[in-house]
Amino acid sequence: MKSILDYETVSLIDEDDALEIIDQTKLPGSIEIIRLHTGEEIWKAIYLLQVRGAPAIGVTAGFGLYVLMKHSKAESYEEFMKELKEKSDYLNSSRPTAVNLSWALKRMEAHVEKIHAEAGKFDRDALITEMRDESERIKAEDIEVCRRIGEYGLSLIKDGDGILTHCNAGQLATCKYGTATAPMYLAHEKGMNIKVYCDETRPLLQGARLTAFELHSAGIDTTLLCDNMSASLMKSGAINAIFVGCDRVAANGDAANKIGTSVVATVAKRYGIPFYVCAPTSTIDINTKVGDDINIEQRKAEEVTEMWYKERMAPEGVKVYNPAFDVTDNELITGIVTEYGVLRAPYTESIAALNLGAKRK
Ligand code: MRU
Repeated sequence: MKSILDYETVSLIDEDDALEIIDQTKLPGSIEIIRLHTGEEIWKAIYLLQVRGAPAIGVTAGFGLYVLMKHSKAESYEEFMKELKEKSDYLNSSRPTAVNLSWALKRMEAHVEKIHAEAGKFDRDALITEMRDESERIKAEDIEVCRRIGEYGLSLIKDGDGILTHCNAGQLATCKYGTATAPMYLAHEKGMNIKVYCDETRPLLQGARLTAFELHSAGIDTTLLCDNMSASLMKSGAINAIFVGCDRVAANGDAANKIGTSVVATVAKRYGIPFYVCAPTSTIDINTKVGDDINIEQRKAEEVTEMWYKERMAPEGVKVYNPAFDVTDNELITGIVTEYGVLRAPYTESIAALNLGAKRK
């Protein structure tokens, strides 16, 4: 029988002018594959978290922009770029925190600019073909990058370790391996015995519905806990290391990830447990100096009051605080695991040394 890991998180169905995703809001109850054709469908799929996780959102945006430009009738380069920017801005407005969204859209735009400059004349079909190839490269690189994060992360764990994770930075959040889960999948591939503990991750339950689902499907020893149980678990000595994903790393190493991550990091510090943030360099935003400058998405109250309950579980009219992410201060982070290696404090220096500005030109 096919497991959830046999499905592609996001793929391009060029012959149908569509992208195909697993509707993650339906997991783990049913695996429903849906196709997105229009800008509104793509926007909604990202906003509603049918496709989610920073790298997967980036890949979706790349494919999405290509699909939306594929039948452009632009007669000039200026017209083409105007249309591209409008569609790009629209997709970019779907979620604010994961920088991979704007990173992928900017990368697509920069690629079109480069190809046009090299050609020296407007060739609409060539630009569209290049957009398809670039979007496929973003996906292929995501798989390679996650594998490399997995290899560096693997060097940080030992046979028999208990590992805690929060939210879903798994295969479902990327195109393969995940970021925080990549070391776990590689450890499992190598026959190491690890025990993974998944915070359920209120309010949208990505830890329970997605991480526990995919790790358990892979045959990894997986235990689910409510978010408010992680301190007692850490105190018990069961946890040797914590791996989480990330939506945006500021230039000083402050890292925004799913709400509740900073609580885990703070408690980990109390118990001397190493806390690692796994982040492809596409998640590092060198233009955001510190975590306080990161735009934290606020979501609807009903996600907290009723969404996953049979009945509403809060009084009507009560005020609700529902930020989707929080920022973990860099001093709580033991290392940032990237595809180029494990960055250590001081992060302002180790991030600057990656020279991302030059690499992205
Ligand atoms: O709101 P979500 O489900 O998109 O939040 C996802 C996370 O917080 C992940 O940890 C992060 O995007 C990294 S995914 C490799």
